[in-house]
Amino acid sequence: MSAGDKSSTPKGEVYSPSADVIAQANVRDPEALRKEASENLEAYWAKRAEELTWFKKWDKVLDDSNKPFFKWFVGGRTNIVANAIDRHVRTWRRNKLALIWESERGEVRTFSYHALAREVCKFSNVLKSMGVSKGDRVTIYMPRIPETVIAMLATAKIGAVHSVVYGGFSVEALHGRIEDSESKVIVTADGGYMNGKVIELKKIVDEALRRTAAPENVVVVRHTGKEVAMEAGRDYWYHDLMSMPLVRTSQRCETEEMDAEDPLYILYTSGTTGKPKAIVHTHGGYQVGVYATFKDVFDIKEEDRWWCTADPGWVTGHSYIVYAPLIAGATSVMYEGAPTFPFPDRWWAIVEKYGVSVMYTTPTAIRGLMRFGHAWPNRHDLSSLRLLGSVGEPINPEAWRWFYKNIGKEKCPIMDTWWQTETGMFMITPMPAMTLKPGSASRPYPGVEADVVGEDGKPVKPGEEGFLVLKKPWPAMLRTVYKDPDRYVKTYWSRYPGMYTAGDSARKDEDGYFWIIGRVDDVIKVSGYRLGTAELESAFVSHPSVAEAAVIGLPHEIKGVAIHAYVILKANATQTDTLVDELKAHIAHEVGPIAKPETIEFVQSLPKTRSGKIMRRVLKARALGMDEGDLTTLEE
Ligand code: WT7
Repeated sequence: MSAGDKSSTPKGEVYSPSADVIAQANVRDPEALRKEASENLEAYWAKRAEELTWFKKWDKVLDDSNKPFFKWFVGGRTNIVANAIDRHVRTWRRNKLALIWESERGEVRTFSYHALAREVCKFSNVLKSMGVSKGDRVTIYMPRIPETVIAMLATAKIGAVHSVVYGGFSVEALHGRIEDSESKVIVTADGGYMNGKVIELKKIVDEALRRTAAPENVVVVRHTGKEVAMEAGRDYWYHDLMSMPLVRTSQRCETEEMDAEDPLYILYTSGTTGKPKAIVHTHGGYQVGVYATFKDVFDIKEEDRWWCTADPGWVTGHSYIVYAPLIAGATSVMYEGAPTFPFPDRWWAIVEKYGVSVMYTTPTAIRGLMRFGHAWPNRHDLSSLRLLGSVGEPINPEAWRWFYKNIGKEKCPIMDTWWQTETGMFMITPMPAMTLKPGSASRPYPGVEADVVGEDGKPVKPGEEGFLVLKKPWPAMLRTVYKDPDRYVKTYWSRYPGMYTAGDSARKDEDGYFWIIGRVDDVIKVSGYRLGTAELESAFVSHPSVAEAAVIGLPHEIKGVAIHAYVILKANATQTDTLVDELKAHIAHEVGPIAKPETIEFVQSLPKTRSGKIMRRVLKARALGMDEGDLTTLEE
């Protein structure tokens, strides 16, 4: 390392990689890779893109002539499924396991690359027979089962665009997402298991569809066997469709040749308005970004067994359950249910049973399991693990140390990866050969230029808090907000000219390590799940007793942040404990169980600006007993 490179001697509580870890790392010298990428960004990404298959090579790596509408691998022809599936079935990997799945009830199903390819082709043919073609949207609302992965890949294979809605969302959230995407088909299941209970997804679909112009068809996977209502001419069983003579006999389906910049998927995420926005990702740049980061950060080898505990319904699942692992030809473990079912060692039993070597999870899950003590993990042989990961929210050093000691047995580096639905891939992240600091996502991935700036857009001093920005484009970046390019420009590129604003506050220390503090916008991260205050508030006012509502996030021991709601009732409603329960149930029903508020407080008024905007910052400061700050715009 060059003299004066401060990263070679990071200060504070640090964990340096062992010689073993460095010796076998895919990236032995992260600093050299960083230097290479910063010297020539386009050459770096071109080199990584060359590791993948293209129908036609690109003419230009990056087109930045129409900022912030960047284009990557311009002129290239590809399809992410050609890299995730097709190229493997032509090699020895056809016999390699792509997926090992365990249901909450303990049922196991495995898919080789060959088997997965066959199922994907068949379902692509099903979608085609339903009239789905290139560019059409397909909503996927599923439990964590293999058919979720199959449906996503089958949609992408024929050039259609998937919109996966997390199975933990409920009626109104689903309705809004179906309507906005104008999906032709919905893929769902009779239900899924969580904590021993059945979540009746098809019922929620039926209720959501009563609120909107119905899509043409609903495909239903039989998973729980519970009876569901099937509407003739609209609803079809997955297993019936997959065994139709035509589909059965044609287990082949051409992979549609796409332009590198053609959309692969849209994924709704919460922002500042009540209407969730759909982030658009493409085939070309996205596949390169997720593949390179996965290989470098999680150091994947042929022999590994990778387990990302996320749900395919979030970007983590899109990028690092479905696409990156398959592109890398890895073997993934997927588990349907709750980590504590039937006992708090279910996850550790899974690690032992399948010999998981790399495990990627969330701080909330770690804190939740930590609560049950180390006797639970100690009952299992976790020696197959060699690398761990964390994502979704800042990990507190205490949880980091517990994970490091009790799960990784002090030999597995923890990759604390900072990224977003919008970024598509890891942006600030360690690599195994780097020195770690518990609680810090460490440093930007090669080619990523991140910084912390003040109100004026100028970098703040080391240790000072500011806004996290990204100063250079990256291949897996969002291309736009679906049907709303103005919102794309306004939300991400308008605060400081030429910089992407992440919506997070952060600090950068003397060693150039980033410490993410939290959201600075109207997004709340509950247990790492991203929820918008506006979406929650609009769910509140859809209840007949509520006149107005404001929600804020407050620190919570396990969830990281929990929802606190302030509600003004209509004149005819009375404050009772039953009403509190009723409102909580209403939010769970409309948005989803993850959105259930921790507390609800009835109030007579809310702090507002003169223009009528609720000042959540004031509510938060009051709740925390802190200084309320500048109140000159307060009207109340
Ligand atoms: C927001 C993005 C990225 C996949 C899952 C979440 C927070 C994410 C970290 C981390 C601290 C983190 C940020 C970010 N976040 N990873 N390692 N350390 N905070 O995707 O739902 O789009 O949320 O999650 O606040 O902006 P998302």
